[in-house]
Amino acid sequence: MGLFDTVKGVEQYIKMAEGYDGTELIKILHKHLPENSTVLEIGIGPGKDMDILKKSYAVTGSDRSRVFLDKYKETHQDTDLLLLDAVTMETDRTFDCIYSNKVLHHLTKENLKKSFQRQKEMLNQDGILFHSFWKGNKVEEMGGLLFIYYEMTDLKKITESNFDILEMKTYTEVEKNDSIYVVLKTK
Ligand SMILES: C[S@@+](CC[C@H](N)C(=O)[O-])C[C@H]1O[C@@H](n2cnc3c(N)ncnc32)[C@H](O)[C@@H]1O
Repeated sequence: MGLFDTVKGVEQYIKMAEGYDGTELIKILHKHLPENSTVLEIGIGPGKDMDILKKSYAVTGSDRSRVFLDKYKETHQDTDLLLLDAVTMETDRTFDCIYSNKVLHHLTKENLKKSFQRQKEMLNQDGILFHSFWKGNKVEEMGGLLFIYYEMTDLKKITESNFDILEMKTYTEVEKNDSIYVVLKTK
């Protein structure tokens, strides 16, 4: 059981993440994805990015944590939500875009590869992926959660057999250039 599977852990995360959201990343997404496209967000957490994405896209939210999903549902009854693990993603639905913000670093490297494989199957024609990661080369464990940091070269290696990279850049979340976003398109 990880931090995100308990009400206490979820509340702790919400406090810690105060003041942060995907506004800047979603501005970049707009350059690549037409309005009204369908988007699956993986690992919505408190759902701040969901709220922004919903203004322009037909969004389905997902998370592996039922606690986060239940909490979001309390204030957003009309939202399309799925309980999904980022690795297996057991759904037969497909999307124009699969988006995540600081989620996939919780997977092992092997599972990240599996997740990308599965995401490829779930994309509609001309679909894209948009994901963010912490930049670096550390591997840590905190609160029962794995944190794997990536350099751009690592992400390139993991994705290049299945995807073309439309954009990959560093950006600043907490400390200068501590993060990477990547926009991918199926080969
Ligand atoms: C660091 S939080 C980020 C939440 C949100 N995207 C944000 O920007 O605030 C990581 C989220 O990923 C979810 N998560 C972790 N491992 C996951 C997995 N294997 N499949 C789906 N979601 C996962 C957690 O439950 C949590 O909601």
